[in-house]
Amino acid sequence: MTYNNYSLSQLQAIDAAHHLHPFTDHAELREAGSRMITRADGAFIYDSEGNEILDGMAGLWCVNAGYGRTALAEAAYEQMKELPYYNSFFKCSTPTPVLLAQKLAQLAPANINQVFFGSSGSEANDTAVRLVRRYWAIEGKPEKNIIISRHNAYHGSTIAGTSLGGMKLMHEQLGGAVPNIVHVMMPYAFELAEPGETDDAFGLRAARAIEDAILEAGADTVAAFIGEPVMGAGGVKIPPASYWPEVQRICRKYDVLLMLDEVITGYGRTGEWFAAQTFGIEADTITTAKAITSGYIPLSALLVGDRIARTLVEKGGEFHHGYTYSGHPVACAVGLANLDIIEREGLVDRVRTDTGPYLAQMLAERIAPHPLVGEVRSIGLMGAIEIVRNKETRERYAPSGSAAVVVRDHAIANGMMLRATGDTMILSPPLIWTRETIDLAVERILKALDLAAIDLKGK
Ligand SMILES: Cc1ncc(COP(=O)(O)O)c(C=O)c1O
Repeated sequence: MTYNNYSLSQLQAIDAAHHLHPFTDHAELREAGSRMITRADGAFIYDSEGNEILDGMAGLWCVNAGYGRTALAEAAYEQMKELPYYNSFFKCSTPTPVLLAQKLAQLAPANINQVFFGSSGSEANDTAVRLVRRYWAIEGKPEKNIIISRHNAYHGSTIAGTSLGGMKLMHEQLGGAVPNIVHVMMPYAFELAEPGETDDAFGLRAARAIEDAILEAGADTVAAFIGEPVMGAGGVKIPPASYWPEVQRICRKYDVLLMLDEVITGYGRTGEWFAAQTFGIEADTITTAKAITSGYIPLSALLVGDRIARTLVEKGGEFHHGYTYSGHPVACAVGLANLDIIEREGLVDRVRTDTGPYLAQMLAERIAPHPLVGEVRSIGLMGAIEIVRNKETRERYAPSGSAAVVVRDHAIANGMMLRATGDTMILSPPLIWTRETIDLAVERILKALDLAAIDLKGK
């Protein structure tokens, strides 16, 4: 590849001159220079200087099948030679989105049989908002329009995604949100449970915040509730067992649609194909993207439940919505090949029965006792480590989020890619990880925690 002719400093200079990065303080990045990731294989990524880094984040929660899958490259190559692009507009279709939609209907919960394709999680959530509002309009209830979401939720970075999400800093820069979206508390017991409140009692209280919002607005004005089964970017917040059944009960009681955002949890992360199956949730829409192709090529799929699909198809007329790349044949070919790998290698079962429980055990036995760690939690191959100044009182280091960045920087410098969100370290590795990979990760995380503890002494 021609970029091999460039030195790191040349690439960094060009990056700084021309490339605006996502979610980045540009002045700060340009001062420091980007780390250039140049290749990857299996569970590891490599930078331009030859450093090997164990990828604890599966890229950005997406490379579930791991790196170096030539079958995915070949699927793209063959499809590009045969038919690189054709659209799904004006009464046309191409074979791969047809077959992928069928496959997704087979894997999804029983009430879901239809799929709308896009290119990103944000786009899919835009589609979901359009669709639930359209549903109620077709049903003669256009005033049922409000969508309830949660503080600290992440649903993407388009205007609808940002509006749906509950990220304060994103809202501050939005300059006008999509109307009729309200936010309620998140199910985050570590910080929000009252002293002495059990996990179950807290879960019910957090769910009933949704009921309060419905009653305040009036049930005849509420279209839907949207939630990530496990809040991901907000800090791997795993709700208490009581939460989702109560949310489901409330949605049914007030005839409010239930939208799940499984952009992170979809395709095996929690030990089932979808977290809807892990938690036993019956959803009206499930937003998916990322791991549908293991991140090898952009693709999203909004899975649409029978209730909405029936109304849309039988009574809706034309739905004025779609993207140039809805059902892109190459992306869908890669999606089919990727799901085939995940299925053939039994990666979802492995997470449920082996690596998921082993990660939970190692976090509890090896990481939780560390003086900087206030709590560990995980579900499947999705984990969090809370960084605290005081284990007993759960006091944090000031300013908020500063300590986790110290841990993250040591982790990366010691060959372990971890993400810091606020005061939480996040782990969401490729599903190809084995017990040996988890052992290696634990050693590297412990080293980072030890080095961070030295830096943070007296702070
Ligand atoms: C739960 C969730 N929804 C939506 C998105 C947005 O996806 P994308 O970045 O592909 O637009 C993300 C991205 O991380 C996500 O985690």
